[in-house]
Amino acid sequence: MGPGPGVAAALLALLVPAAARGPGAAACEVSPGGRFDCGPERLLSRAGCEARGCCYSPGPGPRTGPGPPWCFFPRGYRSYRAENLTATESGFSARLRRVAAAFLPAAVDDVRLELALETPARLRLTLRDAARQRYEVPLPTPRVRGRARSTLYGLRPHVNLYGSHPFYLVMEDDGSAHGVFLLNSNAMDVLLQPSPALTWRTTGGILDFYIFLGPDPKSVVRQYLDVVGFPFMPPYWGLGFHLCRWGYSSTDITRQVVANMTAARFPLDVQWNDLDYADAKRDFTFNKKSFKDYPEMVREFHSRGLRYIMIVDAGISSSGPPGTYKPYDEGLKRGVFIRNATGQPLIGKVWPGPTAFPDFTNPKTHEWWHDMVKDFHEQVPFDGMWLDMNEPSNFVEGSQDGCPNNNLEHPPYVPGVFGGRLQAGTICASSQQHLSSHYNLHSLYGLTQAIASHDALLRVRGKRPFIISRSTFAGHGRYAGHWTGDVGSDWEQLYYSIPEVLLFNLFGVPLVGADICGFRGNTSEELCVRWTQLGAFYPFMRNHNDHGTRPQEPYAFSPPAQAAMRDALRLRYSLLPFLYTLFHRAHSAGETVARPLFLEFPTDPNTWAVDRQLLWGGGLLVTPVLEAGQTKVSGYFPAGTWYSLAGDSTIHSKGQWILLPAPLDTINVHVRAGHILPLQEPAFSTAQSRGKGMALVVALSLDGFARGELFWDDGESWETFERGDYTEILFLASNDAVLSQLLRASAHLDGVLLEAVTVLGVTSPPRRVLANGAIVSDFSYRSDTQVLRVPVSLPMWEQFVISWC
Ligand code: NOJ
Repeated sequence: MGPGPGVAAALLALLVPAAARGPGAAACEVSPGGRFDCGPERLLSRAGCEARGCCYSPGPGPRTGPGPPWCFFPRGYRSYRAENLTATESGFSARLRRVAAAFLPAAVDDVRLELALETPARLRLTLRDAARQRYEVPLPTPRVRGRARSTLYGLRPHVNLYGSHPFYLVMEDDGSAHGVFLLNSNAMDVLLQPSPALTWRTTGGILDFYIFLGPDPKSVVRQYLDVVGFPFMPPYWGLGFHLCRWGYSSTDITRQVVANMTAARFPLDVQWNDLDYADAKRDFTFNKKSFKDYPEMVREFHSRGLRYIMIVDAGISSSGPPGTYKPYDEGLKRGVFIRNATGQPLIGKVWPGPTAFPDFTNPKTHEWWHDMVKDFHEQVPFDGMWLDMNEPSNFVEGSQDGCPNNNLEHPPYVPGVFGGRLQAGTICASSQQHLSSHYNLHSLYGLTQAIASHDALLRVRGKRPFIISRSTFAGHGRYAGHWTGDVGSDWEQLYYSIPEVLLFNLFGVPLVGADICGFRGNTSEELCVRWTQLGAFYPFMRNHNDHGTRPQEPYAFSPPAQAAMRDALRLRYSLLPFLYTLFHRAHSAGETVARPLFLEFPTDPNTWAVDRQLLWGGGLLVTPVLEAGQTKVSGYFPAGTWYSLAGDSTIHSKGQWILLPAPLDTINVHVRAGHILPLQEPAFSTAQSRGKGMALVVALSLDGFARGELFWDDGESWETFERGDYTEILFLASNDAVLSQLLRASAHLDGVLLEAVTVLGVTSPPRRVLANGAIVSDFSYRSDTQVLRVPVSLPMWEQFVISWC
């Protein structure tokens, strides 16, 4: 297997419209917005440009910058000619022979093309070097044999410092959608053009495109997840509130944080520690002074129904004398580290100083990692892992000894990566991993570490793993969640967190959230209140803060601010059965949890650009305040009826922007007519809340119909769905009645009572309400809001009917 910067040349040529020999003037009549760059790797003179068979047209602006390229491909440019077109079982194959002169070194002259209709909704287009085998991404994708059974507001691929998801979804004018996934892990550029057109330039591997035919956006997401994998099912406690900061510098301080949360009556499920716990910032160690009673602290948390997570960095400290640090000694012995050009472990620098980087593409590394996790867990019974600095991040460029001067470090084309060089902020591109060079595998570091950690935690704890990772790649959601990294404590970042959370849901990583109140810099009380309100609707809800900045735990603010945050947290906790059910749908059916409006309303183009609101599933719309000093917020309500969750107002929308009151203590949450949400009385942790009374919010459509469901299991065992060890209930409302249907029963709901049913949209006052045939005398009804409230006490684990007339 060989890496190959030369593929860039092939790709450049392939991705442009397929003319050779000196373009004529007519062929160069390309509108500025439709020009494809013919000199992406360097500035070209007229002569240099025309020698490539391209058109030269200097623009009014500078030669570099975002404007149209000065050197561009002519119309009808053809770089390859197709030969030997052969029908295959599910498509065709062909050879592509280069016909245009190559202008980057090591261009591929002979390309093998395969096109297959793998399923009725999925096309796969693969372009391989016919002369030699190249690196291919080791993602386990579906193996398809034989014939398929029957016959922008673009969401651009998201490539940043933290991760790579080369997948996009395009909305088409009529509300239908398609998507494209390029299964390629090399450094790449993605350029959007007004034409509309998109150029993908990657620097290695093969071109392995999956094209998802939809026809609607939800189907596109599902079709993408069919390829990269459905999301893992998180433990129930993982959906509670998480609290962290860099700077909880001792067990005493960490305990005090938990005590303060309890005293101030805030829910908390998971307490975290950053690097502070570790001895000299080294993984799998703890500070024997400031954290001397660390194991006891974690056990205490457990005895109070809390869970505990600590940070684990990718770099393994390499500077101690042999015999002083087992993870390094043992890692060296077992050969688990990424190697430099001389075959020695590559040494970079991270928080503990010099560090080596485990190669998680090596099965031996998985065993070693498991053993380290196990050893540490035997001392400190932690519940989940926080994987940080796993791009991998490095404070020196490449390694302490620099990087060799070769074509992997300095390929003929370098995409617009962070720092402008492949090694910037990370390790040498030519360092060697078990599967291939780091040049090919860089983007997979976080994913491979997440897989190893997931497997290790499962073996060690025997329960559903909970992992949050900074670096991600396509397929990450099968194993772990994600937080969006070091966001600043400012209003702009609060807003950006919404599209980020929504994107990761489309990428199949639904367990995602930003650091609530912001990480870098000092937050403000107002910002922190608003962020907590929005954060209550991040699928993963964690407040995390940088060291040396103003405290931002909920109890650190004024009583009115605390009250607003408490309300937000209690609201989240009351909605957890609904949220958990959405995660089950994500895990079992490839759905999204936090959802952009256009996914539910694809034929309403007004929804396509909405990125300041989010849905939970199809039924709950959240309209947060994202600006300072506002007490009103404008939100888009697609056509239909929307009830405020509190039941105090109803919106009958024609598809409109609506201005809503939003004082500091309020976040607007609306239920969509036709949906039934299962709720539960909130408590101070999920350990407590899971036994509390449940409630239903029934949001009737104008014709009196609604539907919802509940998935319930023990909240933490492995593969409960796969083993059938769960309860699933369908709720239906029609003809002035709500009933439950037990689709599957288990003992996990035993003892949990349904205590309240709130029906929204009851147009005339009921005279009589019955629960399982028995009269309910203390129901209440308000004609102004059309809300019927029915107090009941019914076993959730048995079917029920509540009717009114
Ligand atoms: C970088 C992480 O993004 C941040 O969340 C963490 O607090 C610091 N590393 C220190 O571990």
